[in-house]
Amino acid sequence: MARWQRICTVDEIPVLGSRRVARVSGPAVAVFRNAEDQVFALLDRCPHKGGPLSQGIVFGNHVACPLHNWTIALDTGQARAPDEGCAARYSVMVEAGEVFLDADELAAP
Ligand code: FES
Repeated sequence: MARWQRICTVDEIPVLGSRRVARVSGPAVAVFRNAEDQVFALLDRCPHKGGPLSQGIVFGNHVACPLHNWTIALDTGQARAPDEGCAARYSVMVEAGEVFLDADELAAP
């Protein structure tokens, strides 16, 4: 059973942008919001060369990495072919306009 940790409200994430969530150990998590107000969370490291996905451009259910423009699926973390790789995905729960992440996943190195 997940232990949900409140992060912010949906409105505190810029539309077509993201918010970084620092972790005790390891890279931050990027929490994204698309035009439909869907929220996704990925490790803030591009599977290519570690670029900060939180600084990328969100379009549809994807984010374009700011370094070399790889396209990463927000729901799976998978890079779009022909590129290969996957950013770690984090569970998200949105309830009454509040965004929660799984505390155990956040704590994992
Ligand atoms: S580091 Fe993201 S595309 Fe190269």
